[in-house]
Amino acid sequence: MASNIITISSSLVLAVIVSLTVQIFYFSPIDPLPLELPPSSSTPGNQLQNITKLGEGALKDPEDVCVDNDGTLYAATRDGWIKRLPRNNENWENWKHIDSNTLLGIAASKDGGLFVCDVEKGLFKVTEDGFSLLLSQVNGSRLNFADDVIEASDGIVYFSVASTKFGLHNWYLDVLEARPNGQLLMYNPYTNEVDIVIDKLHFPNGVALSKDEDYLLVSETWKSRVLRYWLKGANKGKTDIFIENLPGGPDNINLAPDGSFWIALIRQTIEGLEFVHKYKVIKRMLATFPRLYKVINGATKKAMIVKVRTDGNIIKMFSDNNGKVMNFVTSALEFEDHVYLGSLNSNFVGKLPLHSD
Ligand SMILES: *[C@@H]1O[C@H](CO)[C@@H](O)[C@H](O)[C@H]1NC(C)=O
Ligand SMILES: *[C@@H]1O[C@H](CO)[C@@H](O)[C@H](O)[C@H]1NC(C)=O
Repeated sequence: MASNIITISSSLVLAVIVSLTVQIFYFSPIDPLPLELPPSSSTPGNQLQNITKLGEGALKDPEDVCVDNDGTLYAATRDGWIKRLPRNNENWENWKHIDSNTLLGIAASKDGGLFVCDVEKGLFKVTEDGFSLLLSQVNGSRLNFADDVIEASDGIVYFSVASTKFGLHNWYLDVLEARPNGQLLMYNPYTNEVDIVIDKLHFPNGVALSKDEDYLLVSETWKSRVLRYWLKGANKGKTDIFIENLPGGPDNINLAPDGSFWIALIRQTIEGLEFVHKYKVIKRMLATFPRLYKVINGATKKAMIVKVRTDGNIIKMFSDNNGKVMNFVTSALEFEDHVYLGSLNSNFVGKLPLHSD
């Protein structure tokens, strides 16, 4: 009797192990590569706990912020609103609405209006008259995961495709897979043509142009680095590393008035668990059980932004080390001696005064 029970229960255990193995190895949604994550670091001061909350309660997960020539601040929210704060105003205005819950990067256009990235629909242009879908397909395939956008003064629009394989609801599969599934693309609005600027990027997230428009920066979130693509000069057409070993995954990048760049950094895992990303078997397991991934995800445990000079040196670093006031900060925009912060886990835009010291 007892030995029968042991046989039955050990067969059960065996069956569970076999089916788990089959699930994890044969039906895995990812084909992972090991990923080395730099250890995260803390900064003294917790300066990002000292922000003012703009539009609190009215701005759901404003991933990106931008400012136009009139000094109006814009944010795209998770519920499809493009909201704006005219200069010297207290109240955010519901400006335009897109039927979407996947809006990400936004950028002001030289001729007025904004470019808006939608993970599921593609690239929008939003003006006073309403919105139009500029681009929904590339080479006959749906434009998936448009993430950030910038317009050059010649009218060419550069934008990133964070992942050609995964979407916003399962973005964590892209970091677990750690393969270069993303691209930096350019869109010519005069010819309607789209070309690849850089193929095979590890979650290209933020895109920025240098002050003289001689190069583009693009963040590779999972690689903790930012690449530079030369548009002019002797290195035209070449790509090199602008900054690497960042203490977090770079998200949106914004040009600062002095020609440096503000970069928001996402913490990929909770402290001390960076090693998990080195093991394919653990990653397959986490891909199969997304609840486990949520446990190790560090994005909501911290906020960090850095200001990086054109020579690739970090000149300012601000954080909320335990994410108490603000966390999952995805963009930092400098305007008139303040930094405005977007986040995927807040209902406001953060505003931090910059002291001239
Ligand atoms: C917070 O802001 C106040 C007022 O601007 C300033 O005096 C203080 O030094 C700031 N604290 C930090 C940690 O930056
Ligand atoms: C479109 O497809 C052609 C032919 O395969 C390829 O050369 C080109 O790079 C593709 N363009 C984009 C933007 O994917």
